[in-house]
Amino acid sequence: MTEPAVRGRRILVTGGLGFVGSHLVDALAPENEVRILDDRSSGTLAHVPESATVIEGDVGDRATLERATHGVDLIFHEAAVVSVERSVEAPLETNRTNLAASLALLECARREDARVVVASSAAIYGHPAEVPVRETTPAAPTSPYGVQKLALDQYARLYHDLYGLETVALRYFNVYGPRQQGPYSGVISTFLEQARAGEPITIEGDGEQTRDFVHVADVVRANLLAATTDRVGEAYNVGTGRRLTIESLAETVRDATGSSSAVVHREPRPGDVRHSVADLSKSRRALGFDSQVELEEGLADLAGRAGEASADGVLERADRPSADG
Ligand code: UD1
Repeated sequence: MTEPAVRGRRILVTGGLGFVGSHLVDALAPENEVRILDDRSSGTLAHVPESATVIEGDVGDRATLERATHGVDLIFHEAAVVSVERSVEAPLETNRTNLAASLALLECARREDARVVVASSAAIYGHPAEVPVRETTPAAPTSPYGVQKLALDQYARLYHDLYGLETVALRYFNVYGPRQQGPYSGVISTFLEQARAGEPITIEGDGEQTRDFVHVADVVRANLLAATTDRVGEAYNVGTGRRLTIESLAETVRDATGSSSAVVHREPRPGDVRHSVADLSKSRRALGFDSQVELEEGLADLAGRAGEASADGVLERADRPSADG
């Protein structure tokens, strides 16, 4: 499966210095005019391609947002406080970034008549009545983060239905890969750091909770498909359809790194989702999306990297623009 071509567009990537956003920028920069809006809360300027323009600022600031969206025809909205935990600590503050700013962005997109691809989340499903979860599974978030992403997801649909704006919501499952870092980053990067340092690998709760881990290269591809699909005004799951317990993840990470770290248990996390795995039927059918990177491959690649020293097959696949259109 090759990536669809996104060429000759004027594009804004919010959160374009961050984990998912920066990989997306790498894929888009060679053949598009790319602008990044980012407050550098989790990202760095280290990876920015020369041709991309960076606007440093807060996505929640109206004037900055107006400037960043002026003249663009395609927007990827990745800026967010991604930590579920953080949203439980600070619902109001995270709502400002995750929801209020997103709504302001949709307004700007309406003025520009720009297509918008928003980063929604599997967190909107909460404790789903059935797994794997389909897009039609009733949403019942268990955290402020999940509520904020659900509202964004629904606003995207509404802006399509009410105003005819071309919107797509991508419901990311648990994304992992190079450049994921920081105190509130995902469990894979935390376990890898602990394993490398020979520190205990900390499982929250009994470790029997499950997640669907999707490589950032696949998430980039889903975004490129969303940028070109005719099936707008819709939401799509972006995962792999496979799930893993956090306990077996800890063991897999330990094996992949050759670490002798102990595995210890802590209190479970308030608001934590128990089981999460994507049904990809709709994404396959309507978007042509399927995941390509196996977890073992993605983990082995990460375990082999010291920080981000090496270029490799897994990422080249994501960041390489399509040759055939
Ligand atoms: C993650 C994403 C969120 C995304 C959602 C979609 C991050 C930081 N969060 O949330 O943005 O929308 O997936 O499903 O990427 N855990 C441990 N030990 C640790 C850290 C975590 O046991 O040191 C456990 C957690 O309790 C949880 C699981 O691992 O059960 C996953 O946690 P985390 O990586 O923070 O992601 P989610 O909360 O699933």
